[in-house]
Amino acid sequence: MNLLNGKEVSKKIKNDLKQDVESLKEKGVTPGLAVVIVGDNPASESYVSSKQRACEALGIFSKKYALDASETEENLLTLIEALNTDPDIHGILVQLPLPKHMDEIKVIQAINPKKDVDGFHPVSAGKLLIGQKGFKPCTPFGIIKLLDFYNIDVEGMHAVVMGRSNIVGKPIAMMLLERNATVTICHSKTENVDEILKQADLLVVAIGRPFYISSDVVKKGAIVVDVGINRVQDGLVGDVDFKSVKNKAKYITPVPGGVGPMTIAMLMANTVQAAKEQNLDA
Ligand code: GUN
Repeated sequence: MNLLNGKEVSKKIKNDLKQDVESLKEKGVTPGLAVVIVGDNPASESYVSSKQRACEALGIFSKKYALDASETEENLLTLIEALNTDPDIHGILVQLPLPKHMDEIKVIQAINPKKDVDGFHPVSAGKLLIGQKGFKPCTPFGIIKLLDFYNIDVEGMHAVVMGRSNIVGKPIAMMLLERNATVTICHSKTENVDEILKQADLLVVAIGRPFYISSDVVKKGAIVVDVGINRVQDGLVGDVDFKSVKNKAKYITPVPGGVGPMTIAMLMANTVQAAKEQNLDA
């Protein structure tokens, strides 16, 4: 078993980005990220804090906009409109999920695609689908960078993606397809899912169910990427039963310290990229 160590790899990526930020600053540009959070979901609060800490460590300007859960959708859209034209802000992140009375698609669609550092805007999603350059969602982008770091070439592999969310399942499937993997997407309605899982050379699991993947559905020598972050009595665990699966997998991500830190590193990379594109390549 080899660990896919997202904690270490993300440190290297962030170190490189720090140099990029410094050279942008020498040209008079400080990359800026607006972080919008609505309500007081504790998991969202914690993710937003981690993202802002990462900005601070890299010299990226970040500003948090905390809206009450009872705030209207209209006011959120007005805020996004102001951020779209704010020259100090190059990236806009609206932390999901939003309260039930807000339409997530409508809110994301209000973000200027040039500032869509989360890669959730339909323009970014469409570009990913047809293989055009654009902002890629941070979690799947981080998974690809992690595989790249360990020189894992997915071409010809049977990649099985468990989960079909817009944030992880669908975009990682597209990215793996772009790299010539043969991709199967499984979800809650998939029949004979265990038989499909057992065929996976690369397994990406993003369903949010602790210990869902046990060693008996993992092929010997498989690469296992665990996107789950589940809070249980003993702390944070993934969707994969790490203790048993690690003995069968060739490579495996730990939780914590696997995909999570890569997500934040890629948000920083997208923000720096946005600042470059809005100032230097224009
Ligand atoms: N909620 C869960 N993951 C994410 C993410 O990557 N970005 C945002 N904005 N919200 C999320």
